[in-house]
Amino acid sequence: MAIKACVFDAYGTLFDLASATARCDQVPPEQRAPLSALWRDKQLQYTWLRALQGRYADFRQVTAEALEFALESLGLASPQRHAALMGLFETLHAFPEVPDMLRALRRAGVKTAILSNGTPAMLASSLVSSGLDGLFDEVLSVHPLQTYKTERRVYQYALDRLGLMAAEISFQSSNGWDAHAAADFGLHVVWCNRYGQRRERLPGAPAHEVTSLAALPALLGLAPS
Ligand code: LAC
Repeated sequence: MAIKACVFDAYGTLFDLASATARCDQVPPEQRAPLSALWRDKQLQYTWLRALQGRYADFRQVTAEALEFALESLGLASPQRHAALMGLFETLHAFPEVPDMLRALRRAGVKTAILSNGTPAMLASSLVSSGLDGLFDEVLSVHPLQTYKTERRVYQYALDRLGLMAAEISFQSSNGWDAHAAADFGLHVVWCNRYGQRRERLPGAPAHEVTSLAALPALLGLAPS
């Protein structure tokens, strides 16, 4: 069946998470990468745990609480640093290949969408800061569902909102766990393994693995390779 829409995870897939800590002059350069990694790990753990407990709090709160934990763990706790990093997280940059890739998909008549844990406001502000504003037909947040990936109803929400069947959607994520869960749900999945991670031992198998999204239009037979 032909792919009619490409749905993207946001953080780490379209938006470069490291671009937040990398721009923070209040964090010593050698601590920026460890802070970014711990912040992201905690942020994700908190989404999974909150979903499991039925204790949803929006992604801005989860991100702020994860940052508080990470700063304290690295001996960097300070309200000013926290505020600066939260501001930077809400104004992320895109990975360089993303704008042209999205334009190629749209030229080929494929719908483009985001499906993310981010709140609508966080996604809107990073869409502007990254220059990707206007390149998506739909920006879907888990917020109305009050839960997080990898609950199956999050992936179902994309089908419902796009009015398409699972086999008509290609889902792209750099997060192995997200890629596996979406594939297990029934979507066609391209794992954008930007960070050279090992394959997860989880249900579901991504159909393809790439290292950047530049290859996506050709991979889907939508542009010359
Ligand atoms: C998102 C996170 C998981 O955008 O990257 O949903």
